[in-house]
Amino acid sequence: MKTLKSQWTEQEITALAQEYESQSPEAILSWAVKTLGNRCTLACSFGAEDVVLLDMLMNINSEAPVFYLDTDKHFPETYQTRDKLSEKYGVSFIQVKPALTLKEQRLRHGDKLWETNPDLCCQIRKVEPLKETLNKYDAWVTGIRREQSWTRRHSKKVEWDEKFGLLKLNPLADWSEEDIWTYIEQHDVPYNPLHDQNYPSIGCSVCTRPVQDGQDPRSGRWGGYQKTECGLHK
Ligand code: ADX
Repeated sequence: MKTLKSQWTEQEITALAQEYESQSPEAILSWAVKTLGNRCTLACSFGAEDVVLLDMLMNINSEAPVFYLDTDKHFPETYQTRDKLSEKYGVSFIQVKPALTLKEQRLRHGDKLWETNPDLCCQIRKVEPLKETLNKYDAWVTGIRREQSWTRRHSKKVEWDEKFGLLKLNPLADWSEEDIWTYIEQHDVPYNPLHDQNYPSIGCSVCTRPVQDGQDPRSGRWGGYQKTECGLHK
């Protein structure tokens, strides 16, 4: 794993965060493409934020690497969205699979690990594969927004990711949900149809539920568990 000091100084990252705080997501992506080229990757879950970032990034560099963590448990609608995006932008999404198949996981850890130990399930099917993938890059772009949750409220647009040891870019950090949907409509970006069925935040089908009007948008994730993050983000 790279350490902060081997690539950037803390001062440089603070300066970049300050410089880009007031700038558009496209400006951050352009800087990343110019500075890091294909050593910068977009983490795409095919959710609303990520389709916005994909549209922006493809306009800047249609060859930019974009990956998705394929847990084998996504909704069919998520895979359909992947295929629609692939067709529209001509992008070959990099499929990142866990080391264990679902069958191997069942044999080793028992049936429905996502119910008996959702943290371990996320660790095996998302966090470990992410760690391995990010080893190949110097920066990753994510769709996290400050207003999504208490744990994300201090996210910077440019920050050092201590957990995975690379630069983390959150170009939409200060966007509202309305900003996202305005962009999707104006640019005619394909999106996951589950968003129209009360699924504001979409993860694995076994751990994601629709939310009631007025409820916290992330409350449909791991409902019934004391769990709000899967470990991709601090
Ligand atoms: S999660 O940590 O709870 O799953 P969330 O669904 O809010 O995260 O997504 C936040 C960001 O994490 C996304 O915008 C995306 O950049 C990244 N991400 C989440 N899930 C995936 C996935 N399956 N594949 C790639 N990136 C993902």
